[in-house]
Amino acid sequence: MTTRASLYQARYGSPDVAVPAAGSTLIDHLLAHRSVRAYLPDPVNDHQLAAIVAAAQSAASSSNLHAWSVVAVRDPARKSRLAVLAGDQPHIRQAPLLLVWLADLARLEQVAQKVGEEHVALDYLEMFEVGVIDAALAAQNAVSAAESLGLGTVYIGAMRNRPEEVAAELQLPPRVVAMFGLCVGTPDPDQPAAVKPRPPQSVVLHNETYSLPAQAAGLESYDTAMSAFYASQGMKVRGTWSNHSAKRVRDTAALSGRDRLVEALHQRGFELK
Ligand SMILES: Cc1cc2nc3c(=O)[nH]c(=O)nc-3n(C[C@H](O)[C@H](O)[C@H](O)COP(=O)(O)O)c2cc1C
Repeated sequence: MTTRASLYQARYGSPDVAVPAAGSTLIDHLLAHRSVRAYLPDPVNDHQLAAIVAAAQSAASSSNLHAWSVVAVRDPARKSRLAVLAGDQPHIRQAPLLLVWLADLARLEQVAQKVGEEHVALDYLEMFEVGVIDAALAAQNAVSAAESLGLGTVYIGAMRNRPEEVAAELQLPPRVVAMFGLCVGTPDPDQPAAVKPRPPQSVVLHNETYSLPAQAAGLESYDTAMSAFYASQGMKVRGTWSNHSAKRVRDTAALSGRDRLVEALHQRGFELK
């Protein structure tokens, strides 16, 4: 039986983590999240998709503008073409459903035109951020909903590697851009995913004011926890989490083509003033 203490231990990769006196089945469910990269071929049916999208739509939305959309891709040929655009990750082909989450200002442009208003604000970075935030909140609700149905998911940030080509594949109009994909499917029980530890709360939680020095000890213990995690999973990661993470921000090559994202967004009709 999974106890609450074991959920906390896995989440923080530590046997002696404090378990708060406050808890709920929802929080237990969130604590058990893990990205899934191996799926059975079983389809995700329309009822499951409808429930997942209803959960996504239940997220808060900036000014109730709903500046996001999602494209459900099941066609293996289209999924395969999108996989090529997103770093050829095999789980995109394998998952029966790929959800592509969009920052969407096209609908608001149309609404404004319909009621005879200008839409000057759509050209500002702020409105793009509204779309990004709305899409992310909706998607994370979808992840939790899918997991509650026994499905597994993994985000695909690589969907931003080649934004214009993704837009062409999905027939996106101007002012709409893919933020990330989300593979959805039944986890393959023969290749179970593990819960990946998070840094201790001293790293992310600040009381009243922010402090970088206060994070040092927590980051050191996170390096230890992640090294144990890499070893337990047979993952060949060179160095610590800190080494690995530093490599991800070392140069533009690490951005996998996303160093030209501003140019791509301009091409997609976002002025970002
Ligand atoms: C916005 C975003 C983009 C991501 N992109 C990818 C991706 O392209 N490929 C992949 O395999 N995992 C991707 N991930 C999954 C992360 O690697 C994963 O969430 C992280 O390592 C923590 O592991 P966990 O989700 O199992 O807890 C992405 C996650 C997020 C939030």
